[in-house]
Amino acid sequence: MTRGSIGLDGALQDYVVNHSTALDAVQHALVARTTELGSPSGMQIGAEEAQLLTLLVRLTNARHAVEVGTFTGFSAIAIARGLAPGGKLLCCDVSEEWTSIGRAAWKEAGVEDKIELRLAPAAETLKTLPNEEYIDFAFIDADKPSYWTYYSELLPRLRSGGVIAVDNVLWSGRVIDADPAEESTRLMKDFNDKVIHDERVDVVMLPVGDGVSLIYKR
Ligand SMILES: C[S@@+](CC[C@H](N)C(=O)[O-])C[C@H]1O[C@@H](n2cnc3c(N)ncnc32)[C@H](O)[C@@H]1O
Repeated sequence: MTRGSIGLDGALQDYVVNHSTALDAVQHALVARTTELGSPSGMQIGAEEAQLLTLLVRLTNARHAVEVGTFTGFSAIAIARGLAPGGKLLCCDVSEEWTSIGRAAWKEAGVEDKIELRLAPAAETLKTLPNEEYIDFAFIDADKPSYWTYYSELLPRLRSGGVIAVDNVLWSGRVIDADPAEESTRLMKDFNDKVIHDERVDVVMLPVGDGVSLIYKR
């Protein structure tokens, strides 16, 4: 066994966030607005993951980004903030109700012109995208059973050197169950196993939030 990562309790978690480039007032307000929704707010990524997304988008010098699973638009702001000048983010979701909160926040954040939202099942939206290797960065954070479909549509359209970030890959730690009863756990394990055996990519699984895989196209 190799040396593990340090565990994060509340204070250390705050330290990590406070020593990474700060979220702005609109992002903080959106977190508060989303918390008012009650239990669905648990779907929102954490602050440190948002900070990571912005940096990854910068590092890939992304002009073409795609998000699968937008919810109230918090991760979308993080991605849009990192885009190169003239860059665009295509957001895929099925909920008018949740994304309408996002649209209002994007306006306040001054990123509305950088974001196109398509309200339709993401698999349908992705299939309509150009069959070219033009996407620089993608983030997958929607319905878990469709992860492999999303990945399979996105990867051929990703440029060499582009990155797909995938959320919830640790599935609250359940991915190490040898014989999980839950189908969602089996599907997440299956997704992770297929990605690690995909010779088109290099992958690093980070213990950030509920686990984020960074998938780099060779
Ligand atoms: C975990 S949330 C996304 C959270 C968001 N990335 C954030 O950090 O705020 C998952 C989203 O996927 C959307 N979703 C579920 N099934 C979908 C589908 N088939 N196509 C597109 N979006 C879907 C839901 O409406 C929900 O907004």
